[in-house]
Amino acid sequence: MRITVFGTGYVGLVQGAVLAEVGHDVLCVDVDAAKVEGLKAGRIPIYEPGLEELVKKNHAEGRLSFTTDAAEGVAHGRIQFIAVGTPPDEDGSADLSYVLAVAATIAGHMAEPKVVVTKSTVPVGTADKVRAALAEGLAARGSGLGFEVVSNPEFLKEGAAVADCMRPDRIVIGTSDPEAEDLLREVYAPFSRNHEKIIVMDVRSAELTKYAANCMLATKISFMNEMANLAERLGADIEMVRQGIGSDRRIGYQFIYPGAGYGGSCFPKDVKALIATAREAGFEPALMQAVEDRNDAQKAVLVEKIRRHYAGELKGRSFALWGLAFKPQTDDMREAASRVIMEALWAAGARVQAYDPEAMEEAQRLYGDREDLLLCGTKEAALKGADALVVVTEWQAFRAPDFELVRERLTEPVIFDGRNLYDPARMARKGFAYYGIGRGLAEPPPRARESSAA
Ligand SMILES: NC(=O)c1ccc[n+]([C@@H]2O[C@H](COP(=O)([O-])OP(=O)(O)OC[C@H]3O[C@@H](n4cnc5c(N)ncnc54)[C@H](O)[C@@H]3O)[C@@H](O)[C@H]2O)c1
Repeated sequence: MRITVFGTGYVGLVQGAVLAEVGHDVLCVDVDAAKVEGLKAGRIPIYEPGLEELVKKNHAEGRLSFTTDAAEGVAHGRIQFIAVGTPPDEDGSADLSYVLAVAATIAGHMAEPKVVVTKSTVPVGTADKVRAALAEGLAARGSGLGFEVVSNPEFLKEGAAVADCMRPDRIVIGTSDPEAEDLLREVYAPFSRNHEKIIVMDVRSAELTKYAANCMLATKISFMNEMANLAERLGADIEMVRQGIGSDRRIGYQFIYPGAGYGGSCFPKDVKALIATAREAGFEPALMQAVEDRNDAQKAVLVEKIRRHYAGELKGRSFALWGLAFKPQTDDMREAASRVIMEALWAAGARVQAYDPEAMEEAQRLYGDREDLLLCGTKEAALKGADALVVVTEWQAFRAPDFELVRERLTEPVIFDGRNLYDPARMARKGFAYYGIGRGLAEPPPRARESSAA
């Protein structure tokens, strides 16, 4: 099937490559000429495991092409996927200008009926706006061509985007048009061979499903961070609590890791957007607001621990920072906890020596050359002469470091661990001052002691 994908970001490029891999003829359109030129030459703009091979192979075999020419894109596919960004607007609601611009482009060039599929994460009601933009564009040309608008949200995780797209848990198709449903079923048939993955529903429910999924996951994380903060104050160890509740199959082990807060391009933006949608609908989303507030506060927790350790004296100190990406297996630093932490350290007059396995170029792009940031080639180099180590992203490479070397290279053996990678008792035995998240090694508060004595 001939398919057009607008947007070659995390979603569009991965989706395009995966659809080509199963045999579709895919043309990806992007307005970013440098990105498109790079893709044609085999340069992949983002890091995703398996993506480079997939793109190069399908491009070489002629099933995956790239263009900046929107007219060519519109002419190519009966199905037109919209996978452009929907960043937060000033009030937190999703900015639909890119999505609606693509709809207008399609209307401006189409010469036969099209099925327009929104893959971007868009608020409930966006399909109506896309429909209106298409109708307006066609009317302006005096064209009476037909079209359908379908919602098909994407659930891939950055860091495992290719694997998620190749083996999705479910494929949500929001449409009430049987013909459009049939076409989308044909597109996705190769992904449903093992068992039926397709769930067809009305457009609004499909749009809301995406937000509900991300907000549920964000809620699990914020809940766990709240428990971690409580555990610290009560002298309990959140890692034991995590195992204790994760073993309950109704709860599960996933997304209950306490840490330095969630980041990335999706959770923060989608929680904010759902809050805005709810308020627009006259409903106060108290739980979602709490999830967001807890997360904002959580990104500052590690800095608070650092401040307390040094009694507020951070000026002139330097910190080794392991992990810049918002999570492992990606170079994406959008809304990353590392940024909040580095910026707070800089504001307090400290320096940062940072290392990340994939996000070094992105850090350079974001922050450029500055005296208080040293981007280091290895995790060991980042330690040299630093006052303490701050672990921010749970990359595999950080899980079992040579602690002797860490101690030698730091001026003092101090570790602030924002992802609970290490065992506090072992760290104490090795002579480190160790701070994790929710590891209540502190003495129980006096009131609890009194009651246990009684
Ligand atoms: N990143 C994720 O993990 C993820 C997962 C699921 C859903 N989503 C959603 O998918 C959407 C895209 O996210 P992303 O991370 O891929 O974004 P991105 O910012 O990485 O990529 C968007 C791309 O769209 C291009 N673009 C903008 N306007 C265009 C136009 N008029 N025509 C053609 N191309 C245009 C940009 O140049 C850019 O390359 C968002 O709504 C996001 O919420 C993202």
